[in-house]
Amino acid sequence: MAKAITILIGTITGTAELVADDVKPVLVEAGYEVEILDMDGLTQDVLLDNELVLICTSTYGQGDVPDNAMDFFEQLDVMQPDLSGLRYGVIGLGDSTYADTYNQGGARFDTLLRELGAERVGEVMAHNASSDELPEEAGVAWAREWIKILAK
Ligand SMILES: Cc1cc2nc3c(=O)[nH]c(=O)nc-3n(C[C@H](O)[C@H](O)[C@H](O)COP(=O)(O)O)c2cc1C
Repeated sequence: MAKAITILIGTITGTAELVADDVKPVLVEAGYEVEILDMDGLTQDVLLDNELVLICTSTYGQGDVPDNAMDFFEQLDVMQPDLSGLRYGVIGLGDSTYADTYNQGGARFDTLLRELGAERVGEVMAHNASSDELPEEAGVAWAREWIKILAK
């Protein structure tokens, strides 16, 4: 059976979804079954029922996760599920003009999942909307490296 990766999207203006749509074929090509889910309406079960997830989220407000990810994030923070069976990666989207909160959305998920016992695979990707690099291209390049680490 193919191994599965669930990509969880936190977004307001859709960039994270565009990135996930381009990252998906890279993971499929490497032999993974990939499902992309909007974080809106998700419960902790998605992290208990899956062994490998890819958080793909932007940052808003005071370094917050996007609106569609807020309930999910807060539920995890309150319920404190044991995620020791979970491995995860993080693609974070931000903008360095928000210097104090740059890419905090992805960083907050990383910190919380680690506190709940999950194991991060690879480095957190941090895309800067003020750079010349397209987020989809950055995501694809990062994913190509990520699957190599996953395969080890
Ligand atoms: C109103 C607003 C607030 C933002 N706040 C932050 C922030 O605090 N930190 C950060 O790194 N990026 C911030 N950003 C940048 C977004 O995270 C970035 O543009 C991202 O690529 C958007 O992704 P999305 O389309 O998936 O939501 C903000 C953007 C907007 C429009």
